[in-house]
Amino acid sequence: MLVWEDTPRSTPTPASPMPSNVSRDVSMRVSSPSSVPSFSHPFVQSTSQPPAAPSAASAAADAARRVNVADKRIINGQTDVNQLVPFKYKWAWEKYLATCANHWMPQEVNMSRDIATWKDPNGLTDDERRLIKRNLGFFVTADSLAANNITLGTYRHITAPECRQFLLRQAFEEAIHTHAYQYIVESLGLDESEIFNAYHEVASIREKDEFLIPYIDAIMDPHFKTGTPENDQTLLKSLIVFACLMEGLFFYVGFTQILALGRQNKMTGAAEQYQYILRDESMHCNFGIDLINAIKLENPHLWTPAFKAEIKALFLKAVELEYRYAEDTMPRGVLGLNASMFKGYLRYIANRRATQIGLEELFPNEENPFPWMSEMIDLKKERNFFETRVIEYQSGGALSWD
Ligand SMILES: [Fe+2]
Ligand SMILES: [Fe+2]
Repeated sequence: MLVWEDTPRSTPTPASPMPSNVSRDVSMRVSSPSSVPSFSHPFVQSTSQPPAAPSAASAAADAARRVNVADKRIINGQTDVNQLVPFKYKWAWEKYLATCANHWMPQEVNMSRDIATWKDPNGLTDDERRLIKRNLGFFVTADSLAANNITLGTYRHITAPECRQFLLRQAFEEAIHTHAYQYIVESLGLDESEIFNAYHEVASIREKDEFLIPYIDAIMDPHFKTGTPENDQTLLKSLIVFACLMEGLFFYVGFTQILALGRQNKMTGAAEQYQYILRDESMHCNFGIDLINAIKLENPHLWTPAFKAEIKALFLKAVELEYRYAEDTMPRGVLGLNASMFKGYLRYIANRRATQIGLEELFPNEENPFPWMSEMIDLKKERNFFETRVIEYQSGGALSWD
């Protein structure tokens, strides 16, 4: 049975109510360096006493809290995480700006054609209906897992504020994605409790989540703290599983299926939502890969042969699980797709993810059987592909709707 714990496995005692890394953040703000008396800081100054004039020594110590770019680190940094600038990781800030410019909301997409198609007994085949329900069955909870992983896990362990800023935006986008899937389920009048509980009831979905959850749980544990090679590897492994295998692989059978429906002029509203989600996820995946590579660069001792072998095994397992999901959602050919076509596609994607983090290709010479998926990722090439219309919303000039 799938076990998902949203609350800490052990309740912190009243004496230590905050996870260790949260208290570390606060201590950086109010009590470090230790020679600075805490009352000298504006955040902790007593309001009942007139403020004492700062001594020259405490003023100098406060000035010493200014962030030196060279001291910033992605993990195990000692600089103040509340001081966003000066930037060291400009790529993270640029990705944050790019995601903000792509803002969208699910209810802006017109779902009326989808509703008519779903209600029409001849609108879809039984296999297409099964595919849609199993597809949503995975996604309706997947983005909640992603949001939990970011807000309760990753965020605490990343000490570069530029990267934290991206993670905050990413967390909101995961909420938008869950909203989008809920909106589709509600629009089509599907059995909500059946779809939202599918990750317990449908084996091919449950197995994917059971693969992921230990790597999410490991970094959400309130007692988990980076700072040793072993724990830093645990965090790095979790980041790789999340970016390369969850967002970068486990989403791709599902995205391809709904986008293939849209290409056949079926469920175009859902397809348009998936297209925006694919674009967001592609950005999340790319950010995660940059984060992983930056950690590797700053901590080369973590990238050992044994660690690489462990990661390679995880990639192979993930490809196997996603292929099983493809078989389960498409027991027969549907929409011109069949499970065996996905074997090549998943190998192709796994190769890309592996090389993006500096591993060798796992399945040499695989070709992409769905080149049209690459176009879908880049909306600049195919704006408004599914001919639905959304309310003008964009900012930053990333998109301009016709
Ligand atoms: Fe998402
Ligand atoms: Fe994501």
